[in-house]
Amino acid sequence: MQPDLELGEEINEVCASCHGEFGQGGKGGEYPRLAGLPENYLAAQLLRFRKRERINIPMLPYTEERELPDEDLLAVSAYLSRMELPSKMPDLPEDTSAYDRLLLARRVTNIARIPGDLELGEEIYADCVQCHGEKGGGKADGDDPPLAGQYTEYLARQIQDFISGQRWHEFSEELFNELEPEEISALLAYLSILDD
Ligand code: HEC
Ligand code: HEC
Repeated sequence: MQPDLELGEEINEVCASCHGEFGQGGKGGEYPRLAGLPENYLAAQLLRFRKRERINIPMLPYTEERELPDEDLLAVSAYLSRMELPSKMPDLPEDTSAYDRLLLARRVTNIARIPGDLELGEEIYADCVQCHGEKGGGKADGDDPPLAGQYTEYLARQIQDFISGQRWHEFSEELFNELEPEEISALLAYLSILDD
């Protein structure tokens, strides 16, 4: 069955009030980027919110069956997963108008580098590569989300939720619970350079 992308675009108008019209997220990582995340992953997270297996209080009213029936849930996941955000401003012809430049600039999403021990970060990230990818791109046709191009503050919050057990992640104990705070900072610094 082909996903209904027009329906997805319509539903995204609701999501856009927090996640931005291009699914770019924002507010310093309070709202994660959704554009380009794997379709399966998006749909699975929305179901978890609905079932309260992953607690997301601001979104609860939007994920109830009444508000977001399965058909809509799949359509918006399909729509967002196909949205691409450039991480750099492309070279534009000189006669591009200021307005067109502005429109494009609003889509450019590049995660600011944060300082930290990149070598240590890369070492720790070796344990994540098999699922999240060499360059942090995740698996487009799987359940593994990208970590590159996602807000640092958001990722930091997720890692804390894995450690506290509030959010589920496979092999959480081995992957996260033994990391020292400075190792987590190093990991986040490394992730912040992957979309450059
Ligand atoms: C009132 C604000 C708000 C609205 C409206 C909203 N969200 Fe969210 N959403 C959030 C917040 C806050 C988080 C981050 C929760 C966390 O930190 O775990 C989030 C997280 C998510 C995530 C998890 C992303 C990830 O990488 O795991 C998905 C998927 C998502 N939202 C989809 C949607 C969709 C689709 C809609 C529209 C149907 C929507 N959201 C509407 C606030 C909102
Ligand atoms: C066996 C595969 C696997 C390995 C290894 C792995 N992950 Fe994940 N990761 C996943 C999957 C699958 C999810 C989605 C979990 C869910 O369904 O909520 C995820 C989710 C995440 C998220 C949340 C992303 C978001 O958008 O909310 C973060 C952050 C993360 N992983 C970090 C890491 C880090 C850091 C490592 C290495 C220390 C790692 N993962 C190792 C498979 C893996």
